[in-house]
Amino acid sequence: MPARLDDAVFRAALGRFTSGVTVVSTVFEGVDHAMTASAFTSVSLTPPRVLVCVDTRSRFHDPVLASGSWGVSILDEAGQDAASRLAVRGRELTHQLDPFPHHRGTVTGAALLDDALGWLECRTWRTYDGGDHTIVVGTVVAAAVVGGRDDPLLYYRSHYGSLLRRPVSERGPDPAPAVPERPVLEPGSGSGGA
Ligand SMILES: Cc1cc2nc3c(=O)[nH]c(=O)nc-3n(C[C@H](O)[C@H](O)[C@H](O)COP(=O)(O)O)c2cc1C
Repeated sequence: MPARLDDAVFRAALGRFTSGVTVVSTVFEGVDHAMTASAFTSVSLTPPRVLVCVDTRSRFHDPVLASGSWGVSILDEAGQDAASRLAVRGRELTHQLDPFPHHRGTVTGAALLDDALGWLECRTWRTYDGGDHTIVVGTVVAAAVVGGRDDPLLYYRSHYGSLLRRPVSERGPDPAPAVPERPVLEPGSGSGGA
């Protein structure tokens, strides 16, 4: 155990954690804001909550805190170009979503990218100072998944990647439990879960 944390090693260790990739989005004062985010995780099944860690220096930070609601697009492999472009620092923000087919969340109006395996809509529940990122915890007010797509976009050591699936499922012989296409979890329905 080193006496002092080496910043480069810290970053290298974090890079060894493979994640999925999302695009988080919000609408503030009628303007779309969006950015690529992999620091996303589930928090609670009942009530349904997730979090995303947002860099305080990002231009997405203030609008998402101000709007109080946001969308999450869990990207599939076809979303790699969107992930790449919506992560470019200082990019032109006006019309940044135009190249990427998207639709609107029915509850929040957030832009949700079509090249995704599923979507969540959230209302901010709490925010926490995490250091140079704000931890934004949201209550999930709507969720949907896409039937017939099953190839998540992965991120590992600054590379996008694909999932090589082992045939045995932890859930038993059926690796893909049937999920109705685009089920919607309405606010206050009391059910939920990942
Ligand atoms: C794969 C990937 C994952 C990222 N995950 C996050 C994240 O979870 N939180 C975050 O604040 N920034 C994350 N970023 C960086 C932001 O996307 C990037 O800083 C932001 O889009 C810069 O835009 P800006 O110039 O408008 O601030 C990620 C970038 C990539 C490529």
